[in-house]
Amino acid sequence: MLELLDVCVHYGTTEAVKSVDLTVDGTETVALLGPNGAGKSSLLRAISQVIPYTGTVLFDGADLRRRTAFDVARMGLIHVPEGRRIFPTLTVHENLLSGLTAARSRRGKKSVDAVYDLFPNLALMRSRQGYALSGGEQQMVAIGRALVGAPRMLLLDEPSLGLAPIIVETVFNALRDLKGQIPILLVEQNTSLALTECDRAYLLVTGEIKSNATSAEFADRGSLLASFLGRESHLSSSAGSNEHAMTSQMNDTTSGSPKELGTSREMGPTGYCVVESIERRAN
Ligand SMILES: Nc1ncnc2c1ncn2[C@@H]1O[C@H](COP(=O)(O)OP(=O)(O)OP(=O)(O)O)[C@@H](O)[C@H]1O
Ligand SMILES: [Mg+2]
Repeated sequence: MLELLDVCVHYGTTEAVKSVDLTVDGTETVALLGPNGAGKSSLLRAISQVIPYTGTVLFDGADLRRRTAFDVARMGLIHVPEGRRIFPTLTVHENLLSGLTAARSRRGKKSVDAVYDLFPNLALMRSRQGYALSGGEQQMVAIGRALVGAPRMLLLDEPSLGLAPIIVETVFNALRDLKGQIPILLVEQNTSLALTECDRAYLLVTGEIKSNATSAEFADRGSLLASFLGRESHLSSSAGSNEHAMTSQMNDTTSGSPKELGTSREMGPTGYCVVESIERRAN
């Protein structure tokens, strides 16, 4: 479904991603693990055509090279970006509706009401603007927006970050519904959670794939992960995942600031859909 060949990303002279080959087949759920600064988010941004890259990205056999982020989202390759990137001046409800611009006539989308059923907290704040949401609430909106977009494949960049353990469970339950139906590429700092949820994983370190194995094989190679990822890679208990989620939540300082939410031009691909639709209508 997704095939990357020799993908490289540069920021000026910084080589963030170095000749990455990666595949996600059929309905696989695949984790992309790696320490901070490894190039995980850069790789997802290259796949969804948000940043320039060299090499080849094939989605369902189509070369994405000449597609815009807008086209890619409408093809059903939907990216929930790092930092959520919801629209700060749109309400919760409008943010969720924006997912429909990616869905087109595809079946399998969740209705906005279904998202409210999934995250009842959001239903209580449907008229609140994005900038006035906490970090966890923004994350729920970002994930809800992707589900509304009828994804044919999901790229998820740290979906558990900033969420309380009970909400992490809700999010991963929603993802479990999609598992086996669509392919998912998941960036997740919580290694034990990632390996529990995924069939296979890649380990990315300083822009290079160091290892590609099944989750069971990675679990047997705890020392390999520990050497690159440190304490977070302790694989044994689900208590570890809760601890991580709580730590993330405590460390999350982005909540509620319109400035931190970024400009509309910096939105993830689903966001680009809306911005570009508005611009196209205006022209
Ligand atoms: N816009 C940018 N301009 C310059 N360098 C960048 C930019 N974005 C990322 N980098 C650099 O590229 C490298 C990879 O960054 P990236 O955000 O892809 O890492 P990551 O694996 O997602 O890290 P984290 O786990 O902290 O989110 C880092 O060295 C980072 O400093
Ligand atoms: Mg990142």
